Formats: sequence, C-alpha cells, structure tokens
Amino acid sequence: MVSRETLRSLLDNTLRDARYPRWEDNYRQGKVRDMYLLPGRRVLVTCDRQSAFDHILGTIPLKGQVLNRIANHWFEKTADIVANHVIDVPHPNVTIAEELDMFPVEIVVRGYLTGSSDTSAWTYYARGERDICGNILPDGMVKNQPFDTAILTPTTKSEEHDEPISASQVLERGLVDEATWTQIERIAFELFARGQQIAAQQGLILVDTKYEMGRNAAGEIAVADEIHTPDSSRYWIAETYADRHARGEEPESLDKEFLRLWLREKGISDTNIPDLDDEIRIDVAERYIDLFERVTGESFSPSNPDEPLRDAIERSIEPCFESA
Ligand SMILES: Nc1ncnc2c1ncn2[C@@H]1O[C@H](COP(=O)(O)OP(=O)(O)OP(=O)(O)O)[C@@H](O)[C@H]1O
Ligand SMILES: [Mg+2]
Repeated sequence: MVSRETLRSLLDNTLRDARYPRWEDNYRQGKVRDMYLLPGRRVLVTCDRQSAFDHILGTIPLKGQVLNRIANHWFEKTADIVANHVIDVPHPNVTIAEELDMFPVEIVVRGYLTGSSDTSAWTYYARGERDICGNILPDGMVKNQPFDTAILTPTTKSEEHDEPISASQVLERGLVDEATWTQIERIAFELFARGQQIAAQQGLILVDTKYEMGRNAAGEIAVADEIHTPDSSRYWIAETYADRHARGEEPESLDKEFLRLWLREKGISDTNIPDLDDEIRIDVAERYIDLFERVTGESFSPSNPDEPLRDAIERSIEPCFESA
C-alpha cells in the first residue's frame, strides 16, 4: 500500500489530460482516456481525471495507472479466450492498441440483479419489468441476488445516452451479423466466467461488467478499451456478501460508492459541483490502490514518482509518432 504521505506528495503530479500540442492533429479525448489516432493504431493514455454527473471534479493521484494496469492484468489473464487490442504498454498509464473496427454495441454481462441507476437491471425489475433485454426473469427475486446463470444486456453505443436493447434487436437493426453475434455472446460469457473465477480466488465477486469488442486486422474478434476495471465493472467483497445479503443489507462494494456518498454529503447538483479537496483526493486514491492490490494480488508502487508524469508519458509515446 502506498502511504498517504506519498499520495500527498503526488497531488501536484497528476494527469488531467495528455494533450500535447505537437500531436494535436491526432488527438481525441474520451471520458477517461486521451487518445492519439495513428495508422492502424490507437495510443490510449489513461488519465487521472475524476468525473461525476458528466463533470470533471478534479484529479486523483495514480488513478490512471491503476486503471490501465488492472485492464492489462485482465487482458493477460484472458488472452487464451480471445484476442485483445494490446500491442505494447510503454508506461503504466499508456497502452498502444491495435485500432479495431468496433462493433456498435456495448456488451454488458451481469451476474447479479443489482444497481440503482435509471438503467440498472434492478430498477427495471423493481418496477415490475420481467424482460430485461430479452432475458425473462422469474418473479420473486430480491435485490443483489445472483442470477442462475449470468445474463447479457447489450446497449447501443451512442454519444447522448446508451439505450438498452435485446439480442434480437441487435440483429434486426443490423448492428452485428448473426454469426458474429453468436461468437460475441460466447466470448463475453467466457470472459465473465474467467473474471468471476479469478476474482473469487482473490476474495472478490465480479458482479457485472461491460465489454467493447471489434474486429482486428486479421479479421478476428478482439476486446478493446478496458476489461474488468472498476470503471467498467462492479466488485463486491465475497466474505461478507452472504451475511449482509441475508440481513437485507447492501453488499460491501469496491467501487465508487464512497465518492458518491461524499458528493451527496456536499450536495452535488447541476448547479453545484464541489471541488475535490486534498483529503478526499487522497482517500479516493487509496481506494483505487486497494482495489488494484485486491484484484491483482500484487502490491502497487507508482512509477518514478519524482518525475513529472506529463514528461514521462510524452517520452514513452514519442516513438509511435516517429514510426507512423
Ligand atoms: N482498440 C480500439 N480500437 C478502436 N476504438 C477503441 C479501441 N479501444 C478503445 N476504443 C474507443 O476509444 C474510446 C476510449 O475512450 P474512454 O474509454 O475514455 O471513454 P468512453 O468510452 O467515451 O466512455 P466509457 O468507457 O466511460 O463509456 C472509446 O470510444 C472506445 O470505444
Ligand atoms: Mg471506455
């Protein structure tokens, strides 16, 4: 575990963005990742910015490294199941990826009936809905209960908001052809089963997750973006799940509930966006590092904490532009 003192010393060495004017033409910005598009390649820099309700609240020391390293941990652990986009990881914040021809669907796999947002499976179920993206659920289920077998709930990928659809709608709308969809489903369930199995060895429950897939230059299906990270997945602590669930309590989660509670206390709304103070930035960093260590079973140490992160990253991606 990285000490609070170290985290404090890193508060002024975080990466809000990875925008370098010299490569402006290739630059794109996602929610968490800054990207450089090159022929056949996408340089993905996972940044430290923290958003909530579509606002950037500030930065969390080491968050980008934690996320990118967790994703790469899982890409390695699943490489026998499916190809992935990773070509190289020249810095803990950076993944050089193969540019995929992305499928226009996000593939969400859920092991448990949970969630609290408008689009979560539990919210639909509690409203009386029994058909969740084409999966017919029995009556009498309770919140946070596992499904008999994991279910797949696709959503469209759109700029405004993601729309839940069923597998048959994926085909009807021609988003993906049938043979490809069959493979996508098989891969998604295999990835999720592997994720749950390895998480269980670490004392964790992988509750649900989202995959993005596409086709690589060799014509194979490959996974892109990130996999089984806390941004794309929900994790619960296995040890306390059964007792808490039996008592009707919420499971202990390893996700961003903590920050959400802090924001609620501060009264976040469309007109009031509180700035993250140093203590909460350190608290959240500790949670991300704890999550890294629990998920991977490895201890986390920051890469060259004394060097400005911006410079180290610039140096690590420079060769991509020279060879492009
Ligand atoms: N190998 C790849 N080939 C093509 N596109 C990719 C690849 N990997 C990731 N992407 C795309 O790059 C972008 C990465 O952006 P980022 O993950 O920061 O935010 P987002 O996808 O917009 O939001 P979120 O992941 O939170 O839904 C996404 O649009 C993703 O689909
Ligand atoms: Mg993404």
